[in-house]
Amino acid sequence: MVAIGVDVGGTKCLAVALNSDGSVLDSLTLPTAAGVGVVEEVADLCVALALRVGQAATSLGVGMPGTVSRDGVVYLAPHLPEVRQMPMRELLSSQLGIPVVVDNDATCAGVAEWKNGAARNCDNALVITIGTGIGAALIANGKVMRGHHGFAGESGHHIVMHGGEVCPCGRRGCWEQYASGSALRRLANGVSGEEILLRVVQEDTEAQRILEEFASWVALGLFNLVNTLDPQVIVLGGGLGSSAVLRHFVADALGKQMPPSELRPPPLVVTAQLGHEAGAIGAALLGKEVIE
Ligand code: BGC
Repeated sequence: MVAIGVDVGGTKCLAVALNSDGSVLDSLTLPTAAGVGVVEEVADLCVALALRVGQAATSLGVGMPGTVSRDGVVYLAPHLPEVRQMPMRELLSSQLGIPVVVDNDATCAGVAEWKNGAARNCDNALVITIGTGIGAALIANGKVMRGHHGFAGESGHHIVMHGGEVCPCGRRGCWEQYASGSALRRLANGVSGEEILLRVVQEDTEAQRILEEFASWVALGLFNLVNTLDPQVIVLGGGLGSSAVLRHFVADALGKQMPPSELRPPPLVVTAQLGHEAGAIGAALLGKEVIE
């Protein structure tokens, strides 16, 4: 009996198998298949991982990078252009014959960090994933905020620059065009975020200048969210966001943008404890909840 969770990213899909105590038994990664091929791929990952751990999968949770309705239809995934109004939950549950939950990837990461990670015991928390795009999970008054359709937390598409950079969502000036992994690469003239972080540690002053500028964009969006939610803690996760170096720069930039602390006590800014597996773990936890 094993709960499987799959986090579908812009470039790769990560599957984890969770033990009954919530620990990760095993994991498997594949490059993300194009278009609707992603459904087949998630089903294959679930079957392969269950086989590998030698136990039957009892439930499947899937985190998708886009707007997912409460009944598991993926309406729009900006970084998976062919995925539109796809009834993913229905397709997977009829194929696999087990209970399936499909939710937003950042919501899944937020659930994992809230239940088992850096936001444990916090009633008001913001979990932000920074990778190909920016995702957000909003924990408000001890509950995950989902909104009317289930689309709450599309904060990566808050406009931070009127008429700014074109976003794959179809609009211009979205926060994720200035504060995601791809935005950092653009700021750094094609150098990857990973490389910039490495150079910062090696005290390269140009890399430090670039990261400072990038962090101020991250902080700008965070401060908007702080004004909306008033969180106790901000958890930074995702491929780029989980970096301790980035956390340091972002906390600093947020401190500079917020009013003095005696007028507005700043939230804590911490890195995700479950690292890059948070989304898949959260998806598995949500799938498991259905059968408990
Ligand atoms: C999508 C979000 C997703 C985020 C991270 C954004 O472009 O709109 O739904 O959570 O990327 O993958």
